[in-house]
Amino acid sequence: MRELSPLQIERLKYQPKLPSSLREGVNKLELIQGENTQAIADAEQIQELFKKTYGKPIITFESTENENASEIKNVGVILSGGQAPGGHNVIAGLYDALKQANSSNKLYGFLGGPAGIIDGKYVEFTDSFIDEYRNTGGFDIIGSGRTKLESQEQFEKSLEVCKKLNLSAVVVIGGDDSNTNAALLAEWFVENNTGVQVIGCPKTIDGDLKNDQIEISFGFDTATKTYGELIGNIQRDANSAKKYWHFIKIMGRSASHVALEAALQTQPNITLISEEVEEKKMSLTEIINYMAGIISQRAAKGKNFGIAVIPEGLIEFIPEMKSMISNLNDLMSEIEQGTNINNATSMHEKFEIIENRLKQENAKVFASLPALIKSQLLMDRDPHGNVQVSRIETEKLLIEMIRTKLTEMKSQGEYIGKFSELAHFFGYEGRCAFPSNFDADYCYSLGYNAFALINFGMTGYLSSIRNLTQAADSWIAGGTPLTMMMNMEKRHGEMKPVIQKALVKLDGPVFKKLEANREDWALNDKYLFPGAIQYFGPSAVCDLTTVTLQLEQIKTLVNA
Ligand code: FBP
Repeated sequence: MRELSPLQIERLKYQPKLPSSLREGVNKLELIQGENTQAIADAEQIQELFKKTYGKPIITFESTENENASEIKNVGVILSGGQAPGGHNVIAGLYDALKQANSSNKLYGFLGGPAGIIDGKYVEFTDSFIDEYRNTGGFDIIGSGRTKLESQEQFEKSLEVCKKLNLSAVVVIGGDDSNTNAALLAEWFVENNTGVQVIGCPKTIDGDLKNDQIEISFGFDTATKTYGELIGNIQRDANSAKKYWHFIKIMGRSASHVALEAALQTQPNITLISEEVEEKKMSLTEIINYMAGIISQRAAKGKNFGIAVIPEGLIEFIPEMKSMISNLNDLMSEIEQGTNINNATSMHEKFEIIENRLKQENAKVFASLPALIKSQLLMDRDPHGNVQVSRIETEKLLIEMIRTKLTEMKSQGEYIGKFSELAHFFGYEGRCAFPSNFDADYCYSLGYNAFALINFGMTGYLSSIRNLTQAADSWIAGGTPLTMMMNMEKRHGEMKPVIQKALVKLDGPVFKKLEANREDWALNDKYLFPGAIQYFGPSAVCDLTTVTLQLEQIKTLVNA
């Protein structure tokens, strides 16, 4: 028996809450169909690509007195992409619903992400297996992976495995890219009359898989609260010692939701938001000037310390960097297909080859960067062709450039302070934390609800639980057609159907709150210290959702 920490022992006993509609079990549900749906953009092209699964209605579940019979339904589940707190509870909810519907039903877990279904690597879940993982963080129950499930050959192999296990359905727990692939798989299964259904679950700490129907992806709540705690602790330290500027990069591959939420929880002196940088077309120099300006204003007041929060994806949103990185991505894919760069004997030679092959203006930007950042920009791409921004030390790039700027300002008498800095990156620290009560409940409900969708024969749907700022009793369970969230975007030089990523809305209430307070927070220390996630105690502390969700819900209610 594995040794468990005291908190682990207590958390294993926690009974996640379900919406009242699901509490009587999946056999006592009525399915309510809404209107047929349309893709958010490029509807004709999406319809053409998803002939069988396009345009289905939104679904909600209500409890009923009548008991529906349930056939045997075996299900396979995949964890896809980056870890997010609560993934284990999605599987626990799915398992409980499936066994409650019919104790002969079986749940299989594919090992190591989508590759597990292609290669036929799986485990069968049992009570004792599942029980060990209830309310725990991480994806280690079956592991995760980033293999893209999208080719005909992969679909055929997956089908063979589904047939072997007599599966009625596959549940994909993933972000926008993984659920795009889930939609393709669902379409292919229907087109080929396989009888296998596909249901997705919205996962990612990044919080960018959301829309009118999906209020938030799971994991965002716990991850942002974990980063909030860490930033708060650093703020206390900075305010005590009064000698360091802390530059904190916060995870979130593209959108700045995580950095924004963490900033609203802690009120640091500087918060950069990538979407704002892009919208205002701010150059790297302008960003440096803005930050150095605040540092020097604080120094003038005798404050040679502060906190700057930087979103992980910033570098890709600075216009000159975006253009250079896109040029570099194309070059890198050519390089993968075999050019002479790998024969370069030194990093310096590699940089020279790259500079000679980039477009002139992009080569200039690349050449202006420190060697550390250049080499990080040349690291392997992820399977979707993206730069792995979590490996680029943007915080160090900013520090180096700010130091140069401050020296220049000092020589002109515009800065009188002392600049001692520390760099941090908070990312992996938050992805596997014990899920907050919110994520434990939300995830369990998403999994439970996924089986309800399967039980009603649905395919090509994302499990959806809404009304999330209310108590779990009043949460609304149902399903959202995957095709409804899609549009056409360029990927690897080709137009592809993809689930649209939700970026921070600059006219939305969440960004507006930062914007309204930013000047005040910059100079007058208004630090908030959220402390550790509370798992027990008053509901107002331990069941609280994020500031983001609360502000967005208020807006929705006002507009309704
Ligand atoms: P998902 O979108 O797959 O959930 O992953 C998000 C994320 O945590 C990003 O915030 C981060 O940039 C990336 O994964 C890191 O990837 P890796 O786990 O491969 O290092």
